[in-house]
Amino acid sequence: MRVTENIHELRTIRRAMPGVFGLIPTMGSLHDGHAAIIRRARLECDHVGVSIFVNPAQFGPEEDLAKYPRALENDLALLESLGVDAVLTPFPENVYPPGYQTWITVENVSKPLEGAARPGHFRGVATVVAKLINIFTPDRAYFGQKDAQQAAVIRRMAEDLNFDVDIVVLPIVREADGLAMSSRNAYLNADERKAAPALYRALSAAKARFETGEKNADMLKAAVIETLSAEPLADVRYVSVADPDTIEELHEIRGGALLSAAVIIGKTRLIDNILLEKR
Ligand code: PAJ
Repeated sequence: MRVTENIHELRTIRRAMPGVFGLIPTMGSLHDGHAAIIRRARLECDHVGVSIFVNPAQFGPEEDLAKYPRALENDLALLESLGVDAVLTPFPENVYPPGYQTWITVENVSKPLEGAARPGHFRGVATVVAKLINIFTPDRAYFGQKDAQQAAVIRRMAEDLNFDVDIVVLPIVREADGLAMSSRNAYLNADERKAAPALYRALSAAKARFETGEKNADMLKAAVIETLSAEPLADVRYVSVADPDTIEELHEIRGGALLSAAVIIGKTRLIDNILLEKR
């Protein structure tokens, strides 16, 4: 496995790797959600590259950039064991050098939900993902459904800007009790950790209502809020039933829908979602 902090060196390493190349962009502090994506890429690609970069451009001034968990040594050991070929761990000052002034804004799909709660977040995500795709020139770039709106933003950007890459989005990997794996779960104390699976329980309860015929978005959102109200530590920020591609809110579900929610537990903001599939 070749590991470099240097973007130019990464390009040289990449050029020597023929065949189908898969890229998995990450912010490190890797868990089984990341590992599942990397394993899938390993199966589908001749060479696999991973970036580990806590991207300052996607954090707001009040957010957790400074305390975002970092675990580079463990991450590299995991990537090695997964058979990754190339790893880029760049420094912020090399990704955004003095004079940097180019940003990608994906308009409507970035506006609601996470975009409304985190101004500038998706501009930072879209820009860094575009840069990483230009640096690695992958045939396939892999993302997780855990960040469903992020996946929609990246799909839209790749389509709109004619990126020559397949965007692959893989299912959410969960803990045994249903909590979606996330590097931010490390912020939860013991009581908060016990409370956190309520988010998935609430989404699952609403999905069960959908599957027995409820197609009204307000009723489904009410079902999520009702289940979450039983958990005193959970402070609901939004519940949404939206088109999975445009992230526009739906009223009556005719095809499929993305049911998503954000809650704050203690000081930690958790997001999760479930696809309501057309049947
Ligand atoms: P990060 O949170 O490290 O996640 C990297 C990738 O792993 C993302 O595509 C994310 O959706 C996916 N992922 C995280 N947890 C998952 C889980 N439990 N199940 C399945 N997939 C999961 O998302 C980012 O980094 C950044 O925004 C990034 C795309 C790297 C741009 O900076």
